[in-house]
Amino acid sequence: MTPPTTAPTPEDLLATLRELQAADLPAHGGRTLAYVYDSGLADADAVGLAALAMFASSNGLDPTAFPSLLRMENDLVALTGGLLGAPDGFVGSVTSGGTESILLAVLAARQAAGATDPSMVVPTSAHAAFHKAAEFLGVRAVLVDVDPDTLRADPAAMAAAIDDTTVLVVASAPSYAHGVVDPVTEIAALASGRGIRCHVDACIGGWVLPHLDGTPPWTFVVEGVTSISVDLHKYAYTPKGVSVLLHRTPALRRGHFFASANWPGYTMLNSTMQSTRSGGPLAAAWAVTRRIGVEGYAQLAHDAREATLAVAAAVDGIPGLHVLVPPDSTLVALVADESCDVFSVADQMLERGWFVQPQMSFGDVPPSLHLTLSAATAPSVPELVVALQQSVEAARAAGPVAVDPGLRALVGSLDPTTLDDQGFAGLLSAAGLAGSDGGLALPRRMAPVNALLDACPPGLREALLLGVLDRLSRPTAG
Ligand SMILES: Cc1ncc(COP(=O)(O)O)c(C=O)c1O
Repeated sequence: MTPPTTAPTPEDLLATLRELQAADLPAHGGRTLAYVYDSGLADADAVGLAALAMFASSNGLDPTAFPSLLRMENDLVALTGGLLGAPDGFVGSVTSGGTESILLAVLAARQAAGATDPSMVVPTSAHAAFHKAAEFLGVRAVLVDVDPDTLRADPAAMAAAIDDTTVLVVASAPSYAHGVVDPVTEIAALASGRGIRCHVDACIGGWVLPHLDGTPPWTFVVEGVTSISVDLHKYAYTPKGVSVLLHRTPALRRGHFFASANWPGYTMLNSTMQSTRSGGPLAAAWAVTRRIGVEGYAQLAHDAREATLAVAAAVDGIPGLHVLVPPDSTLVALVADESCDVFSVADQMLERGWFVQPQMSFGDVPPSLHLTLSAATAPSVPELVVALQQSVEAARAAGPVAVDPGLRALVGSLDPTTLDDQGFAGLLSAAGLAGSDGGLALPRRMAPVNALLDACPPGLREALLLGVLDRLSRPTAG
């Protein structure tokens, strides 16, 4: 893109940004049921944005230079610890998001154990961030199947998977894909019995579950839970870029601290992956959490939970669609019978102004639609249910999307380990996805693409989507 010769006015720039944003999923309004979280509270959003701007250029790199940021971080850690039953002496760090919190929990466990071939025992339902941690940090993920009926982690199978190399066991509260809480008490007990750490990934549920009745214990009140991750940019409804990683003791955290005096500049001293850290998201989270307050969050959690239960109940009455497993929190996965397919339902929902997230089949679990319900969706549940009814009807009338047999055979012949750019280009062209400029031309209806991807084994799907990401991430043409 050629830089403009005269500087555009601020008004022009903002108008251009608004034009660009028009193609995005809406972050507010409660109709985007993944990626974004909306409290529906305009004043909380406003104070968050003001705080974000006020501290956008402050740098958490040096807590002595910006004591305000250290204070806000310690305040947020204290608030989160209070919510999660943290014992005296607990500590925590604010990170950029759930994935960073998980990477740090794995890193801390690896560093403390000092094992030559460290591994972690991970239920198959755990978030992919653990796979990223495995790859980035050289900690083998030993995957353990979940109970096929409840889709919750299976403590007996996890116990059997623990060995001398295990440095961490993992539980979710709840799992992203299926919205169920693992049996944390049993999992933490088997870990602590062997002197192994237990991390509870409550990135998505940590700010909701404490306000709901009937959830089995999963916080620090459970003996043996050593660390918990909770994302504030999810159900604390703060601007993106904030998660909290709590540890039961300072010693447990030490392994993810980093210092280097081995260069001529300032001694680099970091508690997280980042070094320079904008104060903006932290300040925004500080302001929003205070503005909403504990009672406010209890109400928001209640609203989102009621919305989830109402959607789940309504789905029971929609022929062709059902709930995969009763939701424990505010996430629900929906599956279709053979009369339609979830990918077509997702397209139909988008036509009606609702985004629901397609999830591919995994083991014996069929493809599904993921819905993350925010408090702001609660007032529109009747509309959401009508959209689901109409979308399923339309998808059933059209019949399940079919994958072209030639394309299926072509995909079946691809080897993800040897797939090169030429092979990928050939596939794009055969699938009708090649743009005239050599890039990608994504269709309006994604069901055929999703059905094709669903037919691929996970390794091939990863290779194909990495190819897609590579094509998408290219400099704008001049
Ligand atoms: C349970 C769980 N863990 C981890 C993550 C990763 O969080 P992030 O996308 O903030 O890195 C998510 C995101 O949805 C999640 O739901």
